[in-house]
Amino acid sequence: MGDNALMSDVLELEDVSVVREGRALVDQVSWSVKEGERWIILGPNGAGKTTLLNIASSYLFPSSGGVSILGDRLGKVDVFELRPRIGMAGIALAEKLPKRQTVLQTVLTAAYGMTASWQESYEDVDEQRARAFLDRLGMSEYLDRRFGTLSEGERKRTLIARALMTDPELLLLDEPAAGLDLGGREDLVRRLGRLARDPLAPSMIMVTHHVEEIAPGFTHVLMIRQGKVLAAGPLELELTSRNLSLCFGLPLLVEQSGDRWTARGLPMS
Ligand SMILES: Nc1ncnc2c1ncn2[C@@H]1O[C@H](COP(=O)(O)OP(=O)(O)OP(=O)(O)O)[C@@H](O)[C@H]1O
Ligand SMILES: [Mg+2]
Repeated sequence: MGDNALMSDVLELEDVSVVREGRALVDQVSWSVKEGERWIILGPNGAGKTTLLNIASSYLFPSSGGVSILGDRLGKVDVFELRPRIGMAGIALAEKLPKRQTVLQTVLTAAYGMTASWQESYEDVDEQRARAFLDRLGMSEYLDRRFGTLSEGERKRTLIARALMTDPELLLLDEPAAGLDLGGREDLVRRLGRLARDPLAPSMIMVTHHVEEIAPGFTHVLMIRQGKVLAAGPLELELTSRNLSLCFGLPLLVEQSGDRWTARGLPMS
């Protein structure tokens, strides 16, 4: 159990740095995610977004600074007890999963915290849960398909269903819409929006490069550039043309239309 002050914090980073070969990939980042918040992480290629998610998932220890995840202090908590409480969907994981496993097996194996389906016997209730999550992600027709034969979009939806399987308190999504066509992206944004607005759904942190992928229901944004925090706070306050331009290093116009966001480049003057 963490300090009382941190109990309601989903994630707390204090002055966190990750240094590799003399370079700070994450540079003195302080950031806190409270219960009920849904965060977007924005930043250019190489900014340190995935590195931050790796810290948030307890797979990477920072070179310096303090990290609390779900009320537990990294370094003091047994990460093997912490990890099942965190759901992660990203490209790195997709590559580790056996391609010959079926979609249903791919989701089911998450319940046992392993990437391969050996010969475990699953409980009926686990299988029902796996089917329900796949249904929620629109994957009911693909239960018996081999994971390796799925399209990019189908694979992404399977990974999100898999991440939900352990009933995590924190869900981390690394570019879930990357590689999807327009229809696939809009479908995923709609599903993520439903999840983000569900009060029973886990806390969520989603990395993206595109403000168009921010689903309604997300509440906060963290903008990073070269490992440093540029802005952090409620979307309405921080997702401004000024901040996004500084973040990506070119003049951008951000607009909110309805409950969605768009951004486009402005002519250099
Ligand atoms: N083990 C490592 N040793 C040295 N440099 C590393 C290591 N891991 C990552 N990096 C570098 O750290 C920086 C941040 O990487 P990271 O994957 O967090 O970026 P990102 O914001 O997720 O980028 P992208 O948008 O391209 O996914 C990159 O420049 C990357 O090359
Ligand atoms: Mg990345």
